[in-house]
Amino acid sequence: MLEIPLTPEEFALFRRYIYEKVGISLSDQKTTLVKGRLNKRLNQLGLRSFRDYYDHLVQDKSGNELTYFVSAISTNVTSFFRESAQWTWLKEYVPELIASKKDKKIRIWSAGCSSGEEPYTILMFLQTHLPDFEKWDIKILATDISSKVLSHAVTGQYEAKSVEQLPKDIVIKSFEKVRVGNEIKYAVRPLLKEKVLFRMYNLITDPFFFKNKFDMIFCRNVMIYFDDINRQQLVSRFAGLLPKGSPLFLGSSESLTTHKDTLKLLGSSIYRKL
Ligand SMILES: C[S@@+](CC[C@H](N)C(=O)[O-])C[C@H]1O[C@@H](n2cnc3c(N)ncnc32)[C@H](O)[C@@H]1O
Repeated sequence: MLEIPLTPEEFALFRRYIYEKVGISLSDQKTTLVKGRLNKRLNQLGLRSFRDYYDHLVQDKSGNELTYFVSAISTNVTSFFRESAQWTWLKEYVPELIASKKDKKIRIWSAGCSSGEEPYTILMFLQTHLPDFEKWDIKILATDISSKVLSHAVTGQYEAKSVEQLPKDIVIKSFEKVRVGNEIKYAVRPLLKEKVLFRMYNLITDPFFFKNKFDMIFCRNVMIYFDDINRQQLVSRFAGLLPKGSPLFLGSSESLTTHKDTLKLLGSSIYRKL
């Protein structure tokens, strides 16, 4: 593979473009990462310089190259029941949730849902802990900027190794085994799958069109890529979409230094709207 150099001027072009398009803030330290991760792509496309790749990226109106670029420089890593302390807290919160939802209607947003493990986990959790689960009207909006991870998420099919480590009762209740080619996979059962609406959505540049509030918002391990301005603006928007008392879940390495008068930290990166 040809090793293609990335000049500071070229890096500056990518930095500006990615910030404007996605809100991801690339520091100078990311030069090596961009060069290392994108070199293969340039070779694949038969391009000889990062300047040529930049033109290719900007001219691609389908957005596929942007998805490729974002996936190359960020991570889509996720798993079922990630951030275990948050699920423990949620268990305690269930009686309060039931008491506040006389209409038995629950609306949740999984923002930056990657390949779907997060929204499906929310449903598996509710199926286990919400009495009369079938009688509830539950809808989860699950969004991500990457069409690649979303196309996996909508299949609802996962490799045995990521499912078989879950408690047996959850595996039985929430999945069915399916054959995909030569492989046995686990497919999320239709009863859960039909409650999730997957959509491509850019948290930084797409308009906040939501008419109704959410009973919970999960935005975990997503804001690490954003700068303070974008992070603060997004958190303000989340706060505006949560009724009083409703939780906002961030990733365990994320914390808010702002919004102290609207969001109260409960621990484990869980905040409640004041
Ligand atoms: C590390 S994954 C987190 C997945 C899941 N929330 C979790 O905690 O397991 C981060 C996800 O954020 C998405 N993402 C990054 N920037 C985004 C943006 N501006 N708008 C929407 N999603 C974005 C990525 O595509 C990726 O799938």
